[in-house]
Amino acid sequence: MKKKLNTYGLDLENLPKHIAIIMDGNGRWAKKRGLPRSAGHARGAENLRHITHFCYDIGVKALTLYAFSTENWNRPLQEVTALMDLFAENLNHYVELMGDRQAEVRFIGEKDRLGDKLKQKMLEVEAYSRQFKDSGFVLNFAINYGSRDEILRAAKQIAQDYKNGKISLDEIDASLFSEHLYTHGVPDPDLLIRPSGEQRISNFLLWQCAYTEFYYSDILWPDFKAKNLADAIKEYQKRNRRFGKV
Ligand code: FPP
Repeated sequence: MKKKLNTYGLDLENLPKHIAIIMDGNGRWAKKRGLPRSAGHARGAENLRHITHFCYDIGVKALTLYAFSTENWNRPLQEVTALMDLFAENLNHYVELMGDRQAEVRFIGEKDRLGDKLKQKMLEVEAYSRQFKDSGFVLNFAINYGSRDEILRAAKQIAQDYKNGKISLDEIDASLFSEHLYTHGVPDPDLLIRPSGEQRISNFLLWQCAYTEFYYSDILWPDFKAKNLADAIKEYQKRNRRFGKV
């Protein structure tokens, strides 16, 4: 018999459609156990698989995960290499997820600086995934992502379109701008979660988070389970979102 999903008493009629997560605290999780930082990232990746399934199963429509920022290249080479290997290994799992549950997977960020093998694999996953474009669930992995870079890239594309006479000045509005971001077509996040006790945005989705609700937790990412996510959603469900109105 199919096991019934434990939804931890959530109001499933009032879920955030789009959740963004800064998966922080892997290094400290490993340090506390005398393990290398890469072991923390591996546990973080494992946790992410559970959280992804939970979100999908309760009916969240989009999940955006900060996996590697444009600033993370400044980490020791050994750690960067371990992270890149981990992303590549995990992609097979997400191909399976797409097959079983029909999810669209996208990679947001600049792919060109990534290794050829990883980049190739990412392109394959995205190509395969396109058939699930209207499946109702999208998973965005932010890898080599920086929000300022994303905004500059959009501004340059729009400037080019203006210069080439493709658009007029009046056509440049927030909606057109959003269409030039990596997250085009995906509604802005309703809820952003940052575990591990840090309370900052770290160059993540600066444009998209204009009206997002923020939730912070002291739990380190590898320990941040479905129940903790449900607590974050419950807190979100108590908030009064006004979008600048009274
Ligand atoms: C931040 O924690 C975490 C990262 C820079 C890497 C996050 C990546 C994963 C969880 C793997 C994701 C897998 C896929 C498939 C995308 P930190 O290392 O800064 O932790 P610390 O602040 O405790 O040192």
